[in-house]
Amino acid sequence: MRICRATDYNDMSRKAAQIILAQIIMKPNCVLGLATGSSPIGTYEQLIEWYNKDELDFSEVTSINLDEYKGLSPEDPQSYRYFMNTHLFDHVNIDKNRTFVPDGLATDSEKSCAEYNVNILKQGGIDLQLLGIGRNGHIGFNEPGTVFKKETHCVDLTESTIEANKRFFDSEADVPRQAYSLGIKNIMQARKILVVASGEDKADALYNAIHGEITPEVPASILQLHNDVTIVADEAALKRF
Ligand code: F6R
Repeated sequence: MRICRATDYNDMSRKAAQIILAQIIMKPNCVLGLATGSSPIGTYEQLIEWYNKDELDFSEVTSINLDEYKGLSPEDPQSYRYFMNTHLFDHVNIDKNRTFVPDGLATDSEKSCAEYNVNILKQGGIDLQLLGIGRNGHIGFNEPGTVFKKETHCVDLTESTIEANKRFFDSEADVPRQAYSLGIKNIMQARKILVVASGEDKADALYNAIHGEITPEVPASILQLHNDVTIVADEAALKRF
């Protein structure tokens, strides 16, 4: 595991974007695994800035998102598809037909998850998986207690995640209780993993993930077993290191 120390959120975002830029330069037709949430927003902004300066070309890139709330349509401003469109896809020359986000409105959850898994393989697997980390150590929506060998599946969100995500909704009651998520197995199959973390509220999760026991109780701790993980975190998130 490589740990890149950043001074603050902006520095973290710039460093993470540099790693993604390098990935796209080295393999223009790469498959990026992407995340939503507040952690990668600055990274996406930096990528858009470089795209606007002609330093980046997304025309051959494929993206596969980690997760989506169950029950939300792509047009719903709280959906992760909407998030990805507004924070990245609408601003760069990525082919939207090659951007994949789990279908929040799938009527047959199991079939839709199975198809998502098949599609990852069809695209050649994920070259670089970008991850945020939850305060309880979740990655994607793989909550504490998750089975490591799981692939894309439907998850019941924990109270801690509902609490953390309610800031994006009008009220806590509006936060969906379930979501679709890549499983730990899919994440671990990515060739490279890039974790971004900012702020003191991530300090314990980050410390436990990197230095704690490898346990389903801290889903991110499984990353200790991956051979190409880079963590870009700011001083506040790294305060226990
Ligand atoms: C988002 C995702 C989540 C977040 C995590 C951290 O697609 O899969 O695991 O990365 O909840 O969220 P933020 O960045 O908002 O603190």
